[in-house]
Amino acid sequence: MKKEGQVSMQKPDFDIQAWRSQFPILEGTVHLANCSQSPQALRVRKAVDDYFDDWKEKAMNWEKWMAEVSASKEEFARLINGRPGEVSMHASASQGITAVASSFDYSGKRNKVVVTEADFPTVIFIWKACQRLGVNLEIVPVVDGEIDPASYERAVDERTLITCVPQVYYQNGFKQDLALIAEIAHKKGSLVFVDAYQGLGTEPVDVRAMGIDILVSGNLKYLLGMPGSAYLYVKDELISGMKPTATGWLGQEDPFAFNIHDFRYAGDARRFDTGTPIVVAAYAAGEGMRIINEVGVARIKPWIDELSRHALREVEKRGFETTSPRDIAKKGAITSILVPSPDAVEAELKKRGILVSARGPVVRLAHHFFVTTADIDRALDDLEEIVR
Ligand SMILES: Cc1ncc(COP(=O)(O)O)c(C=O)c1O
Repeated sequence: MKKEGQVSMQKPDFDIQAWRSQFPILEGTVHLANCSQSPQALRVRKAVDDYFDDWKEKAMNWEKWMAEVSASKEEFARLINGRPGEVSMHASASQGITAVASSFDYSGKRNKVVVTEADFPTVIFIWKACQRLGVNLEIVPVVDGEIDPASYERAVDERTLITCVPQVYYQNGFKQDLALIAEIAHKKGSLVFVDAYQGLGTEPVDVRAMGIDILVSGNLKYLLGMPGSAYLYVKDELISGMKPTATGWLGQEDPFAFNIHDFRYAGDARRFDTGTPIVVAAYAAGEGMRIINEVGVARIKPWIDELSRHALREVEKRGFETTSPRDIAKKGAITSILVPSPDAVEAELKKRGILVSARGPVVRLAHHFFVTTADIDRALDDLEEIVR
């Protein structure tokens, strides 16, 4: 019998047991729903408590609270090799994407937006809403769970303003080569937008090295945060040309001038800010990203891949069918397994202390750096029992 939490294969390059003790829920629960919401870390809880204590004791402490929002932007910038002045905070990924979509003029010739069937629906809905402003939308197909880079070659042309790329497909964990797609899009003069929500924190992202112009991610999944936080990166050189209609007083150069006759966007990414941020979510997001940066994505990634290899092997051994890529180079942290009645299976596993996430015809097992091979075995053993 393998003990709960025991690492039975190649060990990660960090002290996994020490990090596991940061997450009290892991004592009695197998947490493989990281594609939905990560577990609560003690340090993140303390950060949230600090905010509530501060509010209780001081009623308002805006200087400190806004400093924490700025610190969270710095942490996000560190994760992606951006600069803090290139990062804005939003209440959701959808709001960050809306800020981007509201920033362009679609009346000219370059009004095409390329999205993919692997995008989270919010991305497609936001661009569909912009069709009445002149956006010409093309949707790149998913074939057998993947997107052939040649499809981008076909879809992106001289009229393409922006090419939207999901780093990891939320349904099956298919992972894309961001640098390659950026190269394809840039050849045609298109900007590259990445939705990194299902990848960031498990897979290194370097916006500069990969040629990413704009990137968004929320913080609930692999970044250990809570609802109400998402961050948007926009490359320095693009900022002055983008004029968001989704705006507000905090997007102004001098929000505290209160001069309604002087409308001037902030010179840096603050121009994508709108109103008062969700400060408590920034406390949680900042600490969550601090943990990820401390463990280090470069050290997390090999363990994510190791767990993927293990999951794929065990899935096959048990005769389950997966919709996830078998090639680790094309696979993120999600392993999707076809089961009858995925919602009922998710509920039954939850009763047994195993958290997974149902989506369409599959249950998704999404590991993170604190997950062990024993966790995956335990989930698959119980899944087998339930399904058979
Ligand atoms: C890849 C991806 N993008 C966007 C979203 C939507 O994020 P939000 O609810 O913060 O707008 C999700 C949510 O699951 C997601 O997985």
